[in-house]
Amino acid sequence: VPYVESVIIRKAEATELAEIAKMHLSLQEHLENSNSSIWKYTKERKRLLKQQYTERLAEENSLVLVAEVRAKIAGFLLATVSSRTDYIPRIIGSLSSIYVHENYRRRGIGSRLVREACRFFSAKKAEHIYVRYVLGNTEGEGFWESLGFKPILLTAGTIASAIENRISSQ
Ligand SMILES: CC(C)(COP(=O)(O)OP(=O)(O)OC[C@H]1O[C@@H](n2cnc3c(N)ncnc32)[C@H](O)[C@@H]1OP(=O)(O)O)[C@@H](O)C(=O)NCCC(=O)NCCS
Repeated sequence: VPYVESVIIRKAEATELAEIAKMHLSLQEHLENSNSSIWKYTKERKRLLKQQYTERLAEENSLVLVAEVRAKIAGFLLATVSSRTDYIPRIIGSLSSIYVHENYRRRGIGSRLVREACRFFSAKKAEHIYVRYVLGNTEGEGFWESLGFKPILLTAGTIASAIENRISSQ
């Protein structure tokens, strides 16, 4: 891994949420470009992003991290822990969003964000950690594979009208 001087991984501050919302939009744009079938954000969702991160920041089961390099934000991560009574394991962790600016990629910053999230998961006693990623997002596919994540569930989709056509033509 190439050496990066002074990467600081820390919790996000309230003043940084606009910048984080912007990175989240870049992440969504990247996903929409990776696979044309993925659901797109509406204007409303885009408008609510910053507010949603404000809420995450206040929740004790969520963690918003940033990676700082030379006083600039190079990337962020959102992690959430949830607890349920109807499944085992009962406490699970989700790596909901991660984004590293293009110029800072392949220097271990994404891995360091995940490593810090793991300390949070461990403190919350989460036993299983999951992530959802878009097929065709080669960065995401390579990154999660390198961290040992194995696919366990696949979301498949088609446009509504195409199903009937398919069945009646048989
Ligand atoms: C995915 C992402 C967060 C990775 O961040 P990063 O800081 O570059 O990750 P790291 O440097 O820690 O990479 C760790 C390992 O992951 C794998 N990896 C990372 N990027 C990869 C790529 N583009 N192709 C294949 N493998 C990749 C490699 O094994 C890498 O180790 P190496 O560089 O020694 O080969 C970053 O590429 C990104 O922000 N992409 C756009 C947004 C996105 O796709 N987010 C994930 C959504 S699920």
